[in-house]
Amino acid sequence: MPTDELLTIVTYGMITSFGTILTMNKSAKDPVKIQTMFSTIAHRYDLLNKVLSLGIDRHWRKFAVNQLVKRDNAHYLDVATGTCDVSLEIINSFKGARVTGVDFSETAIELARKVAKRGGVEVEFVCSNVYDLPENLEGEFDIVFTSYGVLCWLNDMEEWARIIAHYLKPEGVFLLVESHPFMWVFDDASEELNQKYSYWHNTEPISWEENGTYADENAKITNKKSYEWQHTVSDVLNALIKAGLTIDEIGEYPELVWAYTPASKRVDEEYFRIPGDPLPQCWSVQASKRKV
Ligand SMILES: C[S@@+](CC[C@H](N)C(=O)[O-])C[C@H]1O[C@@H](n2cnc3c(N)ncnc32)[C@H](O)[C@@H]1O
Repeated sequence: MPTDELLTIVTYGMITSFGTILTMNKSAKDPVKIQTMFSTIAHRYDLLNKVLSLGIDRHWRKFAVNQLVKRDNAHYLDVATGTCDVSLEIINSFKGARVTGVDFSETAIELARKVAKRGGVEVEFVCSNVYDLPENLEGEFDIVFTSYGVLCWLNDMEEWARIIAHYLKPEGVFLLVESHPFMWVFDDASEELNQKYSYWHNTEPISWEENGTYADENAKITNKKSYEWQHTVSDVLNALIKAGLTIDEIGEYPELVWAYTPASKRVDEEYFRIPGDPLPQCWSVQASKRKV
């Protein structure tokens, strides 16, 4: 895939009315359904405002951090850090924590630097594509993590898992907190849970074209084509196992910080749930690198 097309994966949905990149994705796979996503946008603007105003006491971040193994003086690698919300929470939660945040969006890193500075914490930032990271970052980490809305932008789970394993120290721990891939199958615009898309991974991404983004319908987008890839639960777990990691724990949760489909309703300031909680909308994986 040409680089400029690849870059649209990230430009989609990230340019906000602030003229900066807001780190979020939404599995809107059908262009005619894009409008439905706008119901979630106000929330994200609100979120961005809270980030900028250091409203850091957010449950969704705490949720991710609470899943992390608690180690004093540990060095964390935040893969696809976005505006470094979770990194900030880590530094504020764990004694002696150091964080390196990686993202390939320069604008996200710029915003993340501001957020870190305003939070009075030091985060090392590396602007790099995850797949190029070994060329841009040296070292090993106690904990590597990836959170909320990252995997759908990545086409190759096995390569991603090899890179995660590469950066873990022996006995290091990896944590993923992500939207649940099962939710991918539902029609983005239906109030009912109508299956529309395949659950299975396809090497050909789902792609669509549109003007503007779900975050700002008036945003000036040069590359209008966007791509997303589905990765099933077994795709992700097998990639981590193949990379030499041991799966320690898997979690599934009914709530998510954005609405995957209109069937998912806001239940409070932060979360969306499907009435009756029939399905998992979020999941987590903890894996570790055994000492050889
Ligand atoms: C929805 S944000 C997630 C931010 C953060 N992890 C969180 O929990 O809020 C997704 C981020 O992934 C980044 N991203 C997507 N593909 C990437 C890649 N191949 N390499 C590096 N960063 C990538 C985007 O730039 C964006 O900032």
